[in-house]
Amino acid sequence: MLSGKNILLGVTGGIAAYKTANLIRLFKKLGANVQVVMTPDAKEFVTPLTLSTLSENPVYSVFSDEETGVWNNHVELGLWADIFIIAPATANTIGKMAGGLCDNLLMATYLSAKCTVFVAPAMDLDMYKHATTLQNIAQLKANGNLIIDAKEGELASGLVGKGRMEEPEAIVSFVENHLRKGLPLFGKRVLLTAGPTYEQIDPVRFVGNNSSGKMGYELAEKAYVLGATVTLVSGPTNLTASKGINKIDVRSAEDMFNAVAEEYINSDVIIMAAAVADYTPENIASQKIKKSDNSLQINLKSTKDILTTVGELKTDKQLLIGFALETTNEINNAKSKLSRKNLDFIVLNSLNDKGAGFGYDTNKITIIDKSNNVDEFELKPKSEVAIDIFNKIISLL
Ligand code: CTP
Repeated sequence: MLSGKNILLGVTGGIAAYKTANLIRLFKKLGANVQVVMTPDAKEFVTPLTLSTLSENPVYSVFSDEETGVWNNHVELGLWADIFIIAPATANTIGKMAGGLCDNLLMATYLSAKCTVFVAPAMDLDMYKHATTLQNIAQLKANGNLIIDAKEGELASGLVGKGRMEEPEAIVSFVENHLRKGLPLFGKRVLLTAGPTYEQIDPVRFVGNNSSGKMGYELAEKAYVLGATVTLVSGPTNLTASKGINKIDVRSAEDMFNAVAEEYINSDVIIMAAAVADYTPENIASQKIKKSDNSLQINLKSTKDILTTVGELKTDKQLLIGFALETTNEINNAKSKLSRKNLDFIVLNSLNDKGAGFGYDTNKITIIDKSNNVDEFELKPKSEVAIDIFNKIISLL
């Protein structure tokens, strides 16, 4: 969410200013560019050198540099910012912002900025609940600023109450959540299955398949980047998912069925990209099967088809998407799965296409929807295939 974003951090003169060192580190770790403007008083609480080292940029606090006479262009700073965060925001700064006063570089930059401004107040509890502070905060909200409310807790005065600046991690989450609100899948819950399933034969052996899980994981990442709340039910893979994705690890087809059964009701979009075993051993041997005859027979019973079950239960408001991996008569087989499993669309990949299917970083797909539209796509990286699939989903939503 924050990668490549220009974040301007305004630091004012409160004890919580020391926490901005960590805040800058968190933003930098997420790939953001950070510049800092401090009020002169803020320098009493944290040094410009600390913040400049962490932000890897000069820190500004006066209109012009005494030695060089160079003007610190507040208009340019304000326009550079995609996001402006004033943290900590003292009662004094909040009052000036509400009244439009402009007696320092930070205030001039605030008045020049065109981006969303986040304000994280920090002050003693009685200052925070003073009628004037409350009016000023209400004015800031009315002017379109976003307030990151202070927390209850122990304050620098030794008193306990509301006035602590929100913790840096929570400030980052607040900003990220705000950015997510503008995304096309914000508010949508996406459930995915990915990877193979392993069907246990005995304590040391299983029946599995070659699915790497890459396509399902790419889809989960894309759904998350597009703003959705994502649950990924994953069979055994070596892949990792982003921190914001709710990943449920499963092993067998039955585990996967149970996880999906719990989750599907609360999902708006359900994508089943897993290569689920169609058969599983009738009995799992409790001890390792010993080598005996020349041949060994293991009786298999069919697993429950997860996609078919969800297709029977889903409501009209839910979108259900399945995959079909075919080797012969591809389009017809995929069309028959589409209607048999009651899907909104099916993503077909043929093992006859070079570079498509299990293990590859690329895929070549055809999307067939229930109105019988057939869209064929070029061979491309799975991350781009995921975009094609979500373009289709967004068009249907
Ligand atoms: N699927 C499922 N549960 C199963 C088997 C398959 O949810 N027990 C899903 C897969 O995740 C995929 C779709 O059904 O989205 C099609 O899987 P595929 O293996 O191609 O089809 P099958 O229905 O198993 O038919 P066949 O193996 O005969 O082609």
